[in-house]
Amino acid sequence: MSKFQAPKGVSEYFPPNSNNFEYVRDTLIAQAKVSGYRLIELPVFEDTEVFSRGVGESTDVVSKEMYTFEDRGGRSITLRPEGTAGVMRAVIEHNLDRGQLPIKLFYSGAFFRAERPQAGRYRQFYQVGIEAIGYNDPEIDAEVIAIADNSFKSLGLKKYKLNITSLGDSESRGAHRKDLVNFISKLKLDEATVTRAKMNPLRLFDDKRDEVKSQMKSAPVLLDYLNKRSIQHFERVKELLQQLDIEFSINPRMVRGLDYYTGTTFEFEHDLLGSQSGIGGGGRYDGLMGSLGGADVSGIGFGLGVDRVLMACQAEDVLPANFNQIDLFIVPITELAKQFGFKLLAQLRKAGKKCDMAFGDRGLKGGMKAADKSGTRYTLVLGDDEISSNKCQLKLMSDGTVISSTLSVPEILQKLESN
Ligand code: HAM
Repeated sequence: MSKFQAPKGVSEYFPPNSNNFEYVRDTLIAQAKVSGYRLIELPVFEDTEVFSRGVGESTDVVSKEMYTFEDRGGRSITLRPEGTAGVMRAVIEHNLDRGQLPIKLFYSGAFFRAERPQAGRYRQFYQVGIEAIGYNDPEIDAEVIAIADNSFKSLGLKKYKLNITSLGDSESRGAHRKDLVNFISKLKLDEATVTRAKMNPLRLFDDKRDEVKSQMKSAPVLLDYLNKRSIQHFERVKELLQQLDIEFSINPRMVRGLDYYTGTTFEFEHDLLGSQSGIGGGGRYDGLMGSLGGADVSGIGFGLGVDRVLMACQAEDVLPANFNQIDLFIVPITELAKQFGFKLLAQLRKAGKKCDMAFGDRGLKGGMKAADKSGTRYTLVLGDDEISSNKCQLKLMSDGTVISSTLSVPEILQKLESN
């Protein structure tokens, strides 16, 4: 065993699987980009209060799972457990909401939650997320959900479901909260749960313990308390999703793990991932910017779990074999060929071809092994004869077909492109 190991419960990607990770992450990002979202790159740590105020004290994320420490200046710092609160901090700090609305942003990177590690649940994990800030518009809700759905579809995923619900506007939530608090006050609960319910009574819908679950079965659900405006908004979102051929189920008991949600909320679950089946989720957040000291501007967004989406792609066997494939691998078998090959490599790379060569004096056998391992499309074995005759053979690795060429760069490029 090596002297050092990665910290417990973190996800790591290295070749060859890092190729799949990169493919999944970039495909998820691509859908945000074609929809007009632009990159926001933020620190992975923030003032702890950004999360305790933004995400909410009643959540597991804030109360149990944050990596919080004091920095050398005595400030309380937290590694970001999610992306939305940090984006809002940046929007407020840099007055981004004073320009053209909506502000459409995407991000991608590592997030940190001190959870109990298991397959698909990590302490450092990766998300691709988007946020659309500025309007409370059903069209934007549908757009955000559609981007997530499109990105799963463009990966070739089929075995997943979309659950949606609405948490309504503040009037609807107020009416529901009154009845829910009254209902909860009659239940038999331990003190910690009562305290949690006081902070956010909706949390009890999310409690995994049987004794709480059974008592919550007949609890009033928010969807039955939506006022006219909230109903109209949610109906329009559903209509738009139907127009876009996006299948969904309404789940009125769905509770997201973060407190800032209002209005439309949603979760995508994959059928083959067992208990950690959530591959992405999000929703609208009316009060978040206000709670962080900004203007009262609404937004909506999602976070997609890259680690889990990758697992889903593996489970459905939809990962491409040739992402990032090298076009040509040169195997030089003499000193002269090594020098010639090195120059050829530079010229082909300059022309935009992905290529590599065998380094070290490994001879034909070692060089071919390296070519094989690289996953290259073509291999070119280069010796003194090839150089003196100006003739070479490009071997297609998938079936051994051989194409003849001279060693001129334009001809090699032409052969690689036309075959
Ligand atoms: P979230 O539902 O907490 O939402 O996380 C989004 C996704 O990140 C989950 O669906 C899951 O795929 C992945 N994920 C979460 N925790 C872990 C973990 N410990 N290990 C592996 N994957 C994990 C948010 O984070 C919100 N900020 C999303 C959002 C953006 N809402 C509005 N805007």
